[in-house]
Amino acid sequence: MKHITYLDHAATSWPKPQSVVDAVVHALTEAGGNPGRSAHTIALAASRLILEARTDVAALLGVRDPRDLAFVPGCTAGLNLALKGLLRPGDRVVVGSTEHNAVARPLHALEAAGVRVDVVHGDSAGRIDPDDVERALAQAPTRAVVCQHASNVLGTIQPVGDLADIAHEAGAYLIVDGAQGVGHLKLDLTALGADAYAASGHKGLLGPQGVGALYLAPGVEAVELTQGGGGSNSEEAVQPTARPDRYEAGTPNTPGIAGLGAAARFLLAEGDAIRAEERRLTRMLYEQLLEIPGLRVLGPPLGEERVPVLCVVHDRVEADRIAFELDSRYGVAVRAGLHCAPWAHATAGTAECGALRFGIGFGITESDIDLAVRAMHEVCA
Ligand code: ALA
Repeated sequence: MKHITYLDHAATSWPKPQSVVDAVVHALTEAGGNPGRSAHTIALAASRLILEARTDVAALLGVRDPRDLAFVPGCTAGLNLALKGLLRPGDRVVVGSTEHNAVARPLHALEAAGVRVDVVHGDSAGRIDPDDVERALAQAPTRAVVCQHASNVLGTIQPVGDLADIAHEAGAYLIVDGAQGVGHLKLDLTALGADAYAASGHKGLLGPQGVGALYLAPGVEAVELTQGGGGSNSEEAVQPTARPDRYEAGTPNTPGIAGLGAAARFLLAEGDAIRAEERRLTRMLYEQLLEIPGLRVLGPPLGEERVPVLCVVHDRVEADRIAFELDSRYGVAVRAGLHCAPWAHATAGTAECGALRFGIGFGITESDIDLAVRAMHEVCA
């Protein structure tokens, strides 16, 4: 395979730590039984993997009781569970204006079913002002505030701790889309105060694709979206209400969960160093991109805190064209377009043209940044 300078970590992180790859292989070879069902050696080995993964992901995310974390097929599935499991026709939600389609589309479906959806608009960098949310909550009874932790387009980090306080003051839940927060931001979900927090496993958490986690705070009972077998209470037709069984019907993605557990252990050991390097390289890339004539960087200005995502727009060369040239001529992998987040692009004024996104993450070096910047100068010349 030709050398790839991979700058698309916001879409999915790659390559994964070797321990993650090894854990997936181990789950498929040494521990390939069905966890929580049979009681033979290889099924018990699988059960142990799930137990360890839940414990270690909980430790990484600051979740006190690992049973408050349900493994789900991804952040989108977790958000659907939180939104559709907590909201009913007649409810009102207040939502941020840069949400990904993983929130916008379930809310659109809920709106058709009788949920009122009111958007609180941020500034051009997507920053939501907590005072605006407070004012929106004062207007009508509200079941939930829904907000992403960080924008996959603008890099903006939302004040979710403040939003939790404001939502609770109004008797509402705070539901957070953590897709671009987990891994890149040090988290203590218990202290953060969100009632529901959906985490992607395959981005900043460095796990495999097809697995994620949904945290539901103690006492927050979403109605499950899927009923079925789980290995517990098998004599009853009704879905068990105990956590996490309630939310995990059907045979789980054991290899994915095992990989996610290994990723959590890796980040518990290395996360601080990785995050510091991501911040340093993001700043370096930002500074150097600003030197390219005709190029505009979206989101918060240089120096303001952000997750390691930089979207740019050139005044002459289209984002798709740049992405194609970077890949085909330089082996630099980035993502162009709307990034499944048309609301965020509307905020930035790029809904028509889209943008080119650099996603920084684990394993990227200064020479990767140098190559990307040189390529950008040449392609945009
Ligand atoms: N939501 C992912 C992204 O931002 C796939 O690219």
